[in-house]
Amino acid sequence: MVLASGAGSNLQALIDAVGDGRLDAEIVAVIVNRRSAFALQRAASNNIATAFFGLRPYLDDHDDPAQARRRYDADLAAMVLGYRPDLVVLAGWMHLFTMGFLEYFPGRVINLHPALPGEFGGPNAIDDAWNAHLRDGLDRTGVMVHLVPDEGVDNGPVLATEAVPITPDDDRESLESRIHAAEHGLLVRAVADFLEGL
Ligand code: GAR
Repeated sequence: MVLASGAGSNLQALIDAVGDGRLDAEIVAVIVNRRSAFALQRAASNNIATAFFGLRPYLDDHDDPAQARRRYDADLAAMVLGYRPDLVVLAGWMHLFTMGFLEYFPGRVINLHPALPGEFGGPNAIDDAWNAHLRDGLDRTGVMVHLVPDEGVDNGPVLATEAVPITPDDDRESLESRIHAAEHGLLVRAVADFLEGL
């Protein structure tokens, strides 16, 4: 099961790896929380079950945003449980879960993040690394896959990492493409290792 919010290039890497046998898995469904997420099209065109599940109606129905998020997370958990996944992969899923979701999938939710452990958490990791390069000469960043045990932001027990150098020839765009290329390989390997360990 894959949850995504955006372009879905990492979802595509998983789809391709399943397709050519590098990943012995079935992607039982893809859920997006943005209607415009291209991940939705990628899943649909590969005959994978899809669902759009947005937070907006929950925010509109509740005065307290925290309560809205808890309700959303509980309903999403129920939907995900319906697919009986071995693993829930957050592949560019831009929503922080409460325990109201996570408690249903202990040790079974993994997140991909475009930075190394302990560095540049949050939604703008690539910009943050690029700015640190311009400001302080940072010469490497990286990508990681980690378990999501609790409500911490982009942290949790690390399953896999890969460093990505920042070279003098880089611009923001070239760095981003190398980060994504590293993610695509790392995510497939991390999911394969996780499933093998079950
Ligand atoms: C990826 O770079 C992923 O690491 C990042 O969103 C991007 C999604 O790309 N996730 C986070 O920043 C989580 N904090 P994609 O939609 O092309 O797979």
